[in-house]
Amino acid sequence: MTTPKPTPQFFNEDCIAGCRKRIGDDTVDLIVTDPPYGIDGGNLHKHYNRNEDFVLDGYVEVPAAEYAAFSRDWIAEAARILRPGGSLYIVSGYTHLCDILNALRETKLKEVNHLIWKYNFGVWTQKKYISSHYHLLYYVKPGGPVTFNAFDRFGATEKGADATGSLNYQDREDVWVINREYQPGKTKNKNQLPTQLLTKIIQYSSNEGDLVADLFLGSFSTAKVAIGLNRRAMGFEKSKVAFTHQKRTMKKVQPGELLAGLRAPEASHLTNQRKAWTATEKAKVIRRFKKLTKQGLKKKEALDTLSSEFGRGTWSLLKIVGVKSRRITTDKNIPLAGIA
Ligand SMILES: C[S@@+](CC[C@H](N)C(=O)[O-])C[C@H]1O[C@@H](n2cnc3c(N)ncnc32)[C@H](O)[C@@H]1O
Repeated sequence: MTTPKPTPQFFNEDCIAGCRKRIGDDTVDLIVTDPPYGIDGGNLHKHYNRNEDFVLDGYVEVPAAEYAAFSRDWIAEAARILRPGGSLYIVSGYTHLCDILNALRETKLKEVNHLIWKYNFGVWTQKKYISSHYHLLYYVKPGGPVTFNAFDRFGATEKGADATGSLNYQDREDVWVINREYQPGKTKNKNQLPTQLLTKIIQYSSNEGDLVADLFLGSFSTAKVAIGLNRRAMGFEKSKVAFTHQKRTMKKVQPGELLAGLRAPEASHLTNQRKAWTATEKAKVIRRFKKLTKQGLKKKEALDTLSSEFGRGTWSLLKIVGVKSRRITTDKNIPLAGIA
């Protein structure tokens, strides 16, 4: 475990002015942030079925008429402080999504994914469908190495309990179903992001010791998870009430405390992946494939066996044995190309 440099810095001020004043160009590895929604966030409680006694006052909202300019200003700062190759994730509802997308298009940031986060309890409505998703916009700043730890959560060949479907593939699909945290009796921010969601983003898009920023800290949830995963954290929160209460709770967070609870991915057995094939090895693979199928193994089972015996991905084995993938992909959930 690397020891991160101690730079957690949290500021009770407007993030736009704060970034301009305090943060140099190209300094942050990852920004994960959840701006106010411009929908009168101070009144969100009218739509939620929860005890508001435990919800902190002091959520600073942005008037709808100012939302486009506000988005342009903070997103320009986010783009400036991100290091080349650094990543930006923005959580957005749909009301002002267009303002956020327009602001992103005015920067040099590149869109990587437009993810959907589907959560469990939505905003209650009777005359229309119930909103139960947020948009999660994933962008990178061009010009440097991008951190994307594709195999930190699930190994390349791990399958689910019923042995169908690649867990790695499923985890990287662009719709994420993650429940919001139900915390009865605990003081919380108006719109608190779940630890599971933040853990996933931070694991994929940063490494231990990296600097993770949140320009709209709210309950400091991003910072708490970042420090818990042994990253450094910084950020801004304009509300004095939220800042004062939550900064105190930050003191209880121990660097690296979430690491022990992380699932360890199974190491890949694909030890020969990407090595050049020799003619002898190709001939061996073909002979063994014929033998296994003669013994009664289905083609997919034979390929899985070859994969563990030869340390090669199934896609590259398919090319050697010369069988069309269409005839082997009997289970639609197993994307052979995806797991090779
Ligand atoms: C949607 S909430 C963030 C919730 C947070 N992600 C969490 O999990 O608790 C947005 C936060 O931004 C704060 N805020 C609004 N305008 C701001 C600004 N210009 N600079 C910094 N913080 C601001 C609000 O007070 C609110 O706490």
